[in-house]
Amino acid sequence: MQSSAQDAGTPYVLQMFSVSKTFGGVRALDDVSFEVREGEVHCLAGENGCGKSTLIKIVTGVYTPEPSADIKCFGQSIRSMSPKQSRAMGIAVIWQDLALFPHMSVAENIAFDQMVGNLPRFVRVGSRLDQVKSILDRLGVQLDLDAPLNTLPIAQRQIVAIARALMGDARLIFMDEPNASLTQSETDHLLEIVRNLSAQGVAVVFVSHRLAEVLEISSRVTVLRDGKMVGVFPTEGMTQARLTELMTGASLQQTVAARDRSAAKPVLAVENLTRHGEFENISFTIRAGEILGLTGLIGSGRTELAHSLIGMTKPDQGAIYLQGRQIKPQSIRQAIDLGIAYVSEDRLSLGLIQPQSISDNSSISVLKSLLNQIGLLSPDKQGQMVRHWINELSIKIGDPDDAVSTLSGGNQQRVVLAKWLATEPQLLILDSPTVGVDVGARAGIFRIIRHLAENGLAILLISDEVTEVLFNSDRILHMNGGRIVNEYDPRQTSVDALEVQIYA
Ligand SMILES: Nc1ncnc2c1ncn2[C@@H]1O[C@H](COP(=O)(O)OP(=O)(O)OP(=O)(O)O)[C@@H](O)[C@H]1O
Ligand SMILES: [Mg+2]
Repeated sequence: MQSSAQDAGTPYVLQMFSVSKTFGGVRALDDVSFEVREGEVHCLAGENGCGKSTLIKIVTGVYTPEPSADIKCFGQSIRSMSPKQSRAMGIAVIWQDLALFPHMSVAENIAFDQMVGNLPRFVRVGSRLDQVKSILDRLGVQLDLDAPLNTLPIAQRQIVAIARALMGDARLIFMDEPNASLTQSETDHLLEIVRNLSAQGVAVVFVSHRLAEVLEISSRVTVLRDGKMVGVFPTEGMTQARLTELMTGASLQQTVAARDRSAAKPVLAVENLTRHGEFENISFTIRAGEILGLTGLIGSGRTELAHSLIGMTKPDQGAIYLQGRQIKPQSIRQAIDLGIAYVSEDRLSLGLIQPQSISDNSSISVLKSLLNQIGLLSPDKQGQMVRHWINELSIKIGDPDDAVSTLSGGNQQRVVLAKWLATEPQLLILDSPTVGVDVGARAGIFRIIRHLAENGLAILLISDEVTEVLFNSDRILHMNGGRIVNEYDPRQTSVDALEVQIYA
């Protein structure tokens, strides 16, 4: 859907010219311009590390740009901006980690800034609650206001973060990969909310690596490449292929890569695996060198199944065989020792320890094999292994001792992959491995995955992106309501046919 806010007469809420920012030796932004009109949904697109989040952090006063910058917010020239000033002007950001308080209630989270701001004054709790309710009405959602935030699924927490922004009368909201941890149907709901906001005159700057959605939700897209401005484009008439080309500077072709691996030796065999309430009677085999795609909607039981395979939960019935031997992993540790690696869907909570260094994050699963004869961690060995995987996966980093949190999303995902590959697994389970990863880097990650399969690794690829499983799997299983309902040969189906099957 296109917003009409791109009409030339609509006033600007934000205008930025000649914005540059350098970190150490990295030119994160180089003479970038960016303009947003009232009520517009504007996407910021570009590969991992091209400077999107940095631009947002400049508008919101987290970083100071170089002095060349000329910035106007709501028509007012800005000399310097602090996060507090930026909020006071009506600018809000929904960060990927949402920055909410897990132990406070929904209502307290939404009204947090008001509560803090008003502490010395008398706070009329009743009227504040009414305001929270009217904002949720405005968003068209219902939430239990007294529920502690940490009892809510991630999609609802996101709504809480948006509601909090609206409580502060935000007129310009930045959403930096807001749907990276959302499923397709949750994302659809979020997009609906964004459309509502836009219709009410709130401008939304949306960052997402899912290009179909970028084209669907926004009226204009600003493309960055390596910190430089490529241009501003209307999304009407734009295709994913063209946008990819603008972002990467090269055209990218996707083709079905499936091969028949039915003659290879089974690596994983699952027989009638059941965990009541999660999945029932699951049976399948993955052979050496095979990439088995597993797709289905939210609640289909995909991730729950993966959790049982890696020992996070215990199945009620059925059996798991690895290389012909029955296994009953009781913990992730045991699963790793048996040769199973798991790249989780949520790199922020399960995958990486953000404040720790890239080097420590990559080697955390294999610390044991890095111990030297007297049982101490050998820095030489660690450095060697980390360098090996950084090269192998082309991870773009400054110094391995920098914190993982300084890396761009796609590069963080590669660190997760490095961490697991270093365990030398026989079975690699990838749960939504390209969440938050740009198209170019996705292609890179899938080249790596294909290469690993060619060397005999068995791979289970879980994803709700139909194109991802279609182009990268040898076979596809479709899960629904905790059961496997269908199997497809990627060579004999298409994106459209699969979408009908899965979303119908
Ligand atoms: N605080 C920092 N210290 C050092 N380098 C940084 C810092 N913040 C960002 N960078 C670097 O600046 C560049 C731009 O990063 P930025 O986070 O803006 O990318 P992005 O476009 O948001 O990428 P992604 O799509 O992966 O989120 C990257 O090379 C990144 O490593
Ligand atoms: Mg970013």
